[in-house]
Amino acid sequence: MSKRTLAGSLDAAREGETVLLQGWVASQRNHGGVMFINLRDRAGVVQIVIYPEETPEVAEALAAARLEWVIEVRGTVGRRAPEAVNPQMATGEVEVIASSGRVLSASEPVPVAVDGVVDASEETRLEYRYLELRRANLQRNLRLRHRVALEIRKYCDEQGFAEIETPILTRSTPEGARDYLVPSRVHANAFYALPQSPQLFKQLLMVSGFERYVQIARCFRDEDLRADRQPEFTQVDLEMSFVDEEDILALIEGMFARIFPLAGIEVPTPFPRMPWAEAMRRFGSDKPDLRFGLEIRDLTSIVAASGFRAFRQTAADGGVVRGFTVPGAAGASRRLVDGWAELARRHGAAGALTLRHRDGELQFQVKNVLEPSELEGLAGALQLEDGDLALLVAGREKVAAQALGALRLELAREYDLIPDDRHAFLWVTDFPLLEWDEADGRYYSMNHPFTAPKEADLDLLASDPGAVQSRGYDVVMDGFELGGGSIRIHDRAVQEQAFRALGISAEEARERFGFLLDALSYGAPPHGGIALGLDRIVMLMAGASSLRDVIAFPKTTSASCLMTKAPAEVDPRQLEELGLRSSEA
Ligand code: AMO
Repeated sequence: MSKRTLAGSLDAAREGETVLLQGWVASQRNHGGVMFINLRDRAGVVQIVIYPEETPEVAEALAAARLEWVIEVRGTVGRRAPEAVNPQMATGEVEVIASSGRVLSASEPVPVAVDGVVDASEETRLEYRYLELRRANLQRNLRLRHRVALEIRKYCDEQGFAEIETPILTRSTPEGARDYLVPSRVHANAFYALPQSPQLFKQLLMVSGFERYVQIARCFRDEDLRADRQPEFTQVDLEMSFVDEEDILALIEGMFARIFPLAGIEVPTPFPRMPWAEAMRRFGSDKPDLRFGLEIRDLTSIVAASGFRAFRQTAADGGVVRGFTVPGAAGASRRLVDGWAELARRHGAAGALTLRHRDGELQFQVKNVLEPSELEGLAGALQLEDGDLALLVAGREKVAAQALGALRLELAREYDLIPDDRHAFLWVTDFPLLEWDEADGRYYSMNHPFTAPKEADLDLLASDPGAVQSRGYDVVMDGFELGGGSIRIHDRAVQEQAFRALGISAEEARERFGFLLDALSYGAPPHGGIALGLDRIVMLMAGASSLRDVIAFPKTTSASCLMTKAPAEVDPRQLEELGLRSSEA
């Protein structure tokens, strides 16, 4: 018997078997007459029992073993006495009576506890990430990630997709973030860009006739980081030829119905669909969390002629007054209300005002400015009942929507209105193709410049670009954007027109995207696709609150790796070879 058995696989059915276990010391107790070691391997933990009187050589060999030492034990599986059964442990019915044992590898005292409560700081945990990764939840999350990726590959294979790798050293692919650049040694002053997505390559693969491409692809974006953003992340990137929106939406719904059950999450299909404008109006977000209400109502017409100047003027300037009701929140404290106003200001609004229905009376935060009829009108539109509170924001439509969207989430959290045992999937559709940027005085793509405009809006592209809707779609779950895609432009002339609308000159378009424009002139099939954020999907499946919990070696919010200390300075000779000079030198 020299074959290893996994500790975590043992159960009462194995009683009497002799097993060889190898793994880490998860805990140890020495009661003199008897020693206990909990041994952990990739499958779980089992209790090992050593009787020094009967097997003094085992006791001696393992006496030095401390937490996280690597040991080997041979022994016999025994049933625990009924009072010693541990229902908290998967193997809690059994234990292994050691007949021999040895240390395979010692360990310094660990700076990050592996079992039990996390005691170390965030920095220490990331510095010793390989130790933190021994923790059961991270092991579970990364194994789930593996199973999700495997299932996606199986599903796509069944649907006729081929996984094709695209370059990492490439040219800039515009997805709206900054590029990570890589200098070239061979070409002085020239740089590769790491791909923000495989967008252009996957479209070229459609021109090549693959028809169905998938790639679990690493993407790189130098952007401000948050809990749901990492500088390098993984997309499930897909592209298909000869399809329309319905084919792609159905493909993704089918994929989600396959993968989410791996985490016990049922996926009712088809997903509801909501036009972008409606999502912004009713939920103040292009990725609305539909697990709870707090729907935003437009109140502009009710207060357009109000004696309250802030409302009247906003309406006169073409802005909006909107708000939503939080049931039972009429007693909200001053501190909370101030916090909400501050949150609204952070989103560009002038503030947020409360309307309370208390003791049968309507109380607007600013006294004596609204007529009783206006108060009644507002309460009616907001369906404000006794005991409720409504929050109102006045401002330009975009700002008011964003501020109310943020407040809606904040109040849902504050009043515990988000059911975490329920999930809400939806498609957001009918995006504007372009977004006007006030500061830069130009249009930017809402998605990327290769998204097709709606056929019916083609004529508007030159005359009224802001009114053009795109053939894009986003898939949203519980307020997170899980993926986005579109039907693409496959006609060279339309692509050139789209570049023009973006203020990209014909010369610049040729210089940056000439290869795509050329490809569109050699029999490009109609095509479209989508990219899903694999990290985000696994995060939601695992019930985690940060991408860090589903990425083995994540980066901090300042995009550094505390373990390897990347990014780091390099040898001056390396810089010289690349023809670069540090501004510090
Ligand atoms: P998009 O930019 O919407 O589309 O990206 C697709 C999905 O990738 C995920 N994602 C991220 N996840 C973690 N960290 C990040 N920094 C990050 N950025 C994006 C999101 C997002 O929905 N080429 C297009 C797709 C297409 O048109 O087919 C694209 O990249 O879940």
